[in-house]
Amino acid sequence: MTTGVWLVGARGNVASISMAGARAIASGVVDSTGMVTAREPMTSLDLPAVDDLVFGGHDIREQSIEQTVEKANEAGNVPDKETLDAVREDLREIDERVTIGTARQCGQVVEDLSDNEVGDKGTVADIVSQIQSDYEAFAEEQDVDRLVVVNAASTEPPIKEAEKFDTLDKLETAIENDDPDLPASALYAYAALVDEHPYVNFTPSTGSSLGGLRELALQNDVPHMGRDGKTGETLVKSALAPMFAGRNLQVLSWEGHNILGNRDGLVLEDDANKEGKIESKGNLLDQMLGYDHHNAVRIDYTPSLGDWKTAWDHIHFQGFLGTKMKMQFTWEGSDSALAAPLVLDLIRLIAFADEQGEGGEQPQLASFFKSPQGVDEHDLSRQLQKLYDYAEQHLDDTQPLSEIAE
Ligand code: NAI
Repeated sequence: MTTGVWLVGARGNVASISMAGARAIASGVVDSTGMVTAREPMTSLDLPAVDDLVFGGHDIREQSIEQTVEKANEAGNVPDKETLDAVREDLREIDERVTIGTARQCGQVVEDLSDNEVGDKGTVADIVSQIQSDYEAFAEEQDVDRLVVVNAASTEPPIKEAEKFDTLDKLETAIENDDPDLPASALYAYAALVDEHPYVNFTPSTGSSLGGLRELALQNDVPHMGRDGKTGETLVKSALAPMFAGRNLQVLSWEGHNILGNRDGLVLEDDANKEGKIESKGNLLDQMLGYDHHNAVRIDYTPSLGDWKTAWDHIHFQGFLGTKMKMQFTWEGSDSALAAPLVLDLIRLIAFADEQGEGGEQPQLASFFKSPQGVDEHDLSRQLQKLYDYAEQHLDDTQPLSEIAE
């Protein structure tokens, strides 16, 4: 079985490093450290092999995938030179399958990144049908058995009046009427779901979160999930906050300051585009702690950091006898090295869900996202448990896990 993967934002850091990583695993120069699906019980599921993934995608810039990975190597040695050299040819070949997408409602800062006229190409219906034919052409040329679409494009500003699109009927009427408020990410998602391609939204953008798209996914029995990969500060928060809650230590304030240097950081400099990211980074503490406290998230662009991201968090909390205490942490990570393995995990797991005929949102994938669609649980270990339970349930159909481990 060949799984085709269509990456929206294919020439960006996350997508390019994901593809470089997949091809590096295939050629044996790196192992799968960092991938959740490389651990039991997920290794016992019949997931598509990383080596067998075939890539293509949309972007709005001309810089090739190889150039993106070269820049990442020069800026932060991720990946290192040996890995880069091992995958160059593959990346060139994939880049030939990248076509120009749409940047409708992505904000001025994204339109300015583009080397093409992408803001307003035809009506919404024309754009949707162009995206559908791009998916179709790739699937046919590569002779894939299944096509997974992943959004790894720049963050869009949050949608205005999402309720205008909260049923499939309203959404399709809006497409027919050329509604100017539908953003690119929702159009890519619609084109995927309407043609029954599983869809993952790794970004905070609207994607498949609209009511009309959730209805479409259920109607067509196609799996989808989002939003916003949980890779850094929020990952740590979702592991730590349950500790404060469980020990009845009252958090008085939680301040988080993030600085990052890549193009994602540049796009998030724009207040409109930043709004969606702040929303998805800030909301989870309220759910996990369950009471009012002061909590703020800041994101600043620091160009010299390149792909490296630093988060400082200061947590002020109160314990027994009214004693006030503090915890501070610093997280320093390579943005793409943290994100890429999760993108590969999500592709494999959503393809598996599709093979099982499991349409709609996928709660077992909650641990991968800052704002998991359809799931209120943000506690990392409980979210991971959902994934382990899911894997074991699917193994039960075939063979007990204990026997497989022997
Ligand atoms: P990037 O700026 O390197 O890549 C984004 C790519 O998307 C660029 O090549 C850009 O030209 C392209 N693009 C922008 N709008 C597009 C459109 N409408 N259609 C097609 N292509 C489009 O950014 P990076 O670092 O790769 O991040 C990608 C997304 O992943 C961002 O939304 C980011 O917030 C999200 N994300 C990243 C994480 C991480 O790096 N650790 C974690 C969680 C989410």
